[in-house]
Amino acid sequence: MNHPVTPPSLSLERPPSSPQFINLYSDSTPGQAPSTAQELSQGLVAAAASVSPKYLYNALGSKLFEAITGLSEYYPTRTEAGIFEACHTQIAETLARNGIKNPCLIDLGAGNCAKAMALIPHLLPRQYVPVDISVDFLKEAAAQVQNSFPALDIIGLGMDFSAGLALPDEVQAHDRVFFYPGSSLGNFQPDQALKFLQHIADPAQGKARGLLLGIDLVKDAATLEAAYDDALGVTAAFNKNLLLNINDLLQADFDVRQWRHVALFNAAQSRIEMHLEATHDLAVHWPGHRRRFRAGERIHTESSYKYTPEHMMALLKQAGFRQVEHWSDAEHRFAVFWASV
Ligand code: AVJ
Repeated sequence: MNHPVTPPSLSLERPPSSPQFINLYSDSTPGQAPSTAQELSQGLVAAAASVSPKYLYNALGSKLFEAITGLSEYYPTRTEAGIFEACHTQIAETLARNGIKNPCLIDLGAGNCAKAMALIPHLLPRQYVPVDISVDFLKEAAAQVQNSFPALDIIGLGMDFSAGLALPDEVQAHDRVFFYPGSSLGNFQPDQALKFLQHIADPAQGKARGLLLGIDLVKDAATLEAAYDDALGVTAAFNKNLLLNINDLLQADFDVRQWRHVALFNAAQSRIEMHLEATHDLAVHWPGHRRRFRAGERIHTESSYKYTPEHMMALLKQAGFRQVEHWSDAEHRFAVFWASV
């Protein structure tokens, strides 16, 4: 690492503090790696092959996703940011009405922390807890948040929260507000989404006071498919990079050139599906396994469910949240929900 020499004139400045970081993600503990290998292997040898979308987010994958959020076709990120920009006063008032003053803001799948950074000046959290599976990427992002908000108590958490929400004792137990933006809940099947929401709403589990949730809404297939198959091919690269991550994690020999990116809207299930499709007959190997794919055969890599506001409100109520409010953009492309526990 390069440590630039500090000019004497700056030596009295406060050094940029690095936030606390706690890594609970099992990939970094070799003893637990077999579970990752097992999960991946199982999905890859299945007749209808699939891989969990969480494996899209290695270091390069997180950068590619960040690039996706700036694409003209990918409307969700900027639309959600616009809703927060337009409605932050109402959101802050809603929290205040629920008696929540300086919350502990727990950012699930924080990534580059950009969404939280825009909200922090308005929600004034006492503690900010960004959580992500992409550990090194999150460390960097958390340090940037700390630079922007030097006095804020930040605890970065490297964690696969799809496996549970057991948070370490360092995380403040009172006035917890879970922040789950970006429509990431859409990666769960609706029944799993319900379970996850029930888990957050259960006072014995996450100790949450409420949930601030961003959800992409159902719309025409053309808009949806363009958002997941952009002209530059960034989403295609994001999808194919999954194979490089599997090569690393499993010691497999996927050749990304033999695969094509496919994105389609499955209207019956109300979800965008991403697949990788073999361009010709091929075989993939990893320790103890060999899997053949026929030309045209696919690996299902992601489902991104789209909801109507009514459906999401019903799901939140069913999960046990007491009060639900939502805000949307003028074109009703995206919605932000507040659900109180
Ligand atoms: C981060 C899961 C919300 O589903 O829109 C973007 C991921 N996949 N382009 C989404 C993603 C392809 C994204 N989420």
